[in-house]
Amino acid sequence: MSGARILSGREGEDQAVALLRDGGIVGVPTETVYGLAADAFQPLAVARIYEAKSRPLSDPLIVHLPEAAWLDRVVRFTSARQREVVERLSGAFWPGPMTLLLPRHPQLPDLVTAGMESVAVRVSSHPVFQNLLQRMDSPLAAPSANRFGRISPTTAEDVRIELGERIPLILDGGPCPHGLESTILGLEENGLRILRPGPITQEQLKEFGHLLNEKTSGQDVKTPGSLPGHYAPRKPLTIMERDISPDPSAGLLSLASSRQGFAMQEILSPDGDLREAASRLYGALRRLDDGPATVLYAEKIPEEGLGVAIMDRLRRASHGSRTGKTP
Ligand code: TXA
Ligand code: MG
Repeated sequence: MSGARILSGREGEDQAVALLRDGGIVGVPTETVYGLAADAFQPLAVARIYEAKSRPLSDPLIVHLPEAAWLDRVVRFTSARQREVVERLSGAFWPGPMTLLLPRHPQLPDLVTAGMESVAVRVSSHPVFQNLLQRMDSPLAAPSANRFGRISPTTAEDVRIELGERIPLILDGGPCPHGLESTILGLEENGLRILRPGPITQEQLKEFGHLLNEKTSGQDVKTPGSLPGHYAPRKPLTIMERDISPDPSAGLLSLASSRQGFAMQEILSPDGDLREAASRLYGALRRLDDGPATVLYAEKIPEEGLGVAIMDRLRRASHGSRTGKTP
């Protein structure tokens, strides 16, 4: 079968730079999930991302920078206070799994922001991606490297399974240490709003401003891609409200405890460590989806710290699966 080459090291980076300069798209490692990158200032290249993912053009892309010093290339700050808040947040969490929604620079192509007035920006800590950005000397637009609505990839092989027939190259930087997409933050008049929970938690953000309630869905949605029905396995997934009896046709996703009598079980972290659980979540969902079970069940995870982001993804996965629902 034809399809994407998976390369690492200097050879991979050289080919990635050449492809990206030429308006191509490349799968890239980040510390959260793998991204599908294009030069943010080449609209045709950005269009290829939407095409490869089958992503609606109304769903904007995150722009990645190698350092906060590049912000003025893609953002136009509207006040000194805004710049100050961003400096405090970026000083604490960049490079790392935090994305900020900020007023866009007028020269940034419309396709990147889907015509919106704000741009989502992030400085990734992954050394391979950082290096690529420095060599490109241009910001890279990159959504997660999955087909629209599917589970985000956390290894180069996952990217190949998702998009291998649609992209020429995947740069292998090893498995993603966080395994969950970045926390997205909106800066508002009265405080900070977590638009997508992620590896940077509420507890960590508290000291940087008043935390506004998470968005309500419907007209008020500020991140178009944050819809129920994302991150979905193909099999129906149900979040368990209470313990269930063993079921030999079912696959079980658990935090720590081992159970008998299921077609298959995935344990996220035998010690109940939420960081380990987050990093293994998408891989476990993929294995359950590919395994012998016909239906999937997930145990609830305590909604504290990283548990908030894990449950957010499980609810969306459950909503998006064919008959999955939260009982
Ligand atoms: O960890 C991550 O954030 C990964 C890695 C690759 O950086 N990226 C990622 O991108 O998760 P994506 O496209 O799968 O999710 C980005 C979310 C989408 O829900 C999108 O609608 C929203 O951010 N978003 C992007 N730009 C936006 C903008 N200008 N205004 C509002 N929402 C935006
Ligand atoms: Mg995504």
